[in-house]
Amino acid sequence: MSKKFYITTPIYYPSGKFHIGTAYTTILADTVKRYKKLRGYDSYMLTGLDEHGQKIETVAKDNGKTPQEYVNEMADSTIKLWKKMNIENDDFIRTTEKRHEDVVQLIFDKLMKQGDIYLGEYEGWYCLPCETYLTETQVIDGKCPDCGRQVKKMKEEAYFFNMKKYQKRLEDFYRKNPDFIQPESRKNELFNNFVKNGIDDLCVSRTNFEWGIKVKSDPKHVIYVWLDALTNYITALGYMTENDSKFKRYWPADLQIIGKDIIRFHGIYWPIFLMALDLPIPKKIYAHGFISIKDGKMSKSKGNIIYPEQLFERYGVDATKYYLLREFPYDQDIIFTPENFVNRYNGDLANDLGNLLNRTIGMINKYFDGEINTEKLIQTEFDNEFKNVILKKVNEVENYYENIHFSNALESIWEIISFSNKYIDKVQPWVLFKSENENDKKKLISAMCHLVESLRIIGILLQPVLQETSNKIFKQLNIEEIDWDTAKEFKVNKKIIKVVENCEPLFIRLETNQEMEYLKKLING
Ligand code: MSP
Repeated sequence: MSKKFYITTPIYYPSGKFHIGTAYTTILADTVKRYKKLRGYDSYMLTGLDEHGQKIETVAKDNGKTPQEYVNEMADSTIKLWKKMNIENDDFIRTTEKRHEDVVQLIFDKLMKQGDIYLGEYEGWYCLPCETYLTETQVIDGKCPDCGRQVKKMKEEAYFFNMKKYQKRLEDFYRKNPDFIQPESRKNELFNNFVKNGIDDLCVSRTNFEWGIKVKSDPKHVIYVWLDALTNYITALGYMTENDSKFKRYWPADLQIIGKDIIRFHGIYWPIFLMALDLPIPKKIYAHGFISIKDGKMSKSKGNIIYPEQLFERYGVDATKYYLLREFPYDQDIIFTPENFVNRYNGDLANDLGNLLNRTIGMINKYFDGEINTEKLIQTEFDNEFKNVILKKVNEVENYYENIHFSNALESIWEIISFSNKYIDKVQPWVLFKSENENDKKKLISAMCHLVESLRIIGILLQPVLQETSNKIFKQLNIEEIDWDTAKEFKVNKKIIKVVENCEPLFIRLETNQEMEYLKKLING
């Protein structure tokens, strides 16, 4: 059986329509899932919704709905959204599903019985939007360290998780697994801010609202939404049920993708819960940066939100994915600007890639009526250089994909594209075509073969990100050899090359001023 790769996204709060930040996390995970699949892994992707908690209860009420009605509608629209965006998740977990709720109760019970969870009294600060209890040291000027909003004083009987007991084990785990949290800078920040000075016990139950999973033996307590939510990664696989074959196959997760704002939960509490359950810890947590609009964090009240539909319905799913993955560096935040979006679309997609395909198909039609017998080709010094550079780049791209450096991977693919466009200018096929010399005809055949081969390789390398585009490339050039490993060989002796008569453009060039206006309106609300 092939090797497995289990990848997860956070489960999102369905407290409103998803913006491009949330879509980014999902696109990232989908890209990894597809890349691993292309590399022969049995790769399994989980996403879903975090449907409990006070915030959801309040939003449902504001919408005149029961929480269940509200989350049902949100789940429907989320599943549709991911479908429209070509997201290939294997499962979609909702924390209100019985398969999840039952197991969360079992887990809570088990942790209580073994003494990791105890009953105490909570008095302290609470951040309502984050649904997080905070200690005196965590609160900064009366504000939440995660979201920066005002916190409230609270007092209630509550269950606690004995985090202190696991402090040393967690530190040992970090030491032995230096790559557990990526990027390095965020790991150091997490350690210095939340671990080094001692981890406080965590309050894991609430009595101030109803919408959640009840503690079975003490139902006036609702299980803390983060304990409920984090366990989705194992309940979705059937942990603690009779039907646990997926759990046995896929756990531990190979990669858990999250945003940097929820690293404390995934980097500290999650491994500790797993230690308490005596389960293996995920191999890697990758915390990406944030996308914001010119005047800061996207928010409804500021009116500066961009929703993924507003981009992909106008520019296509591939252009939307390309923009996000190309712009986001591995360990930094980005700011969305209309200029960048239009430049990436027109410059990279329509001009560089689109023109390369268009020119190649155009020349093969013009010089060879769309079909070439490649048996009699003569390779030139340009051809050898071309082949060597491309094969080197393929290696580079693979390394970047392996390490989730997608922006770099796309950059290297675009170097192949730009190198291919320059190759045309160097070889000057139009001169070879006009020449009377028989050898020049053979050189022209070789040049066309090299271009088709380069596009085949580009199409393969783009598959994890731009599915529609790669398929259009393959179809128009009649390419059947699309397995990942075949991109590592440069084959110019294919015998017959046959291309479509009229190239269907991959991306239609945008009218810059008009699109800038459209995008500016979006970000100005
Ligand atoms: N429900 C929790 C996660 C529980 S996982 C066990 C949650 N949900 S969320 O909907 O608020 O956020 C989901 C993800 O979207 C997080 O990874 C968060 O970092 C990400 N993003 C939210 N806003 C974002 C941007 N502006 N930019 C990039 N990612 C952003 O937290």
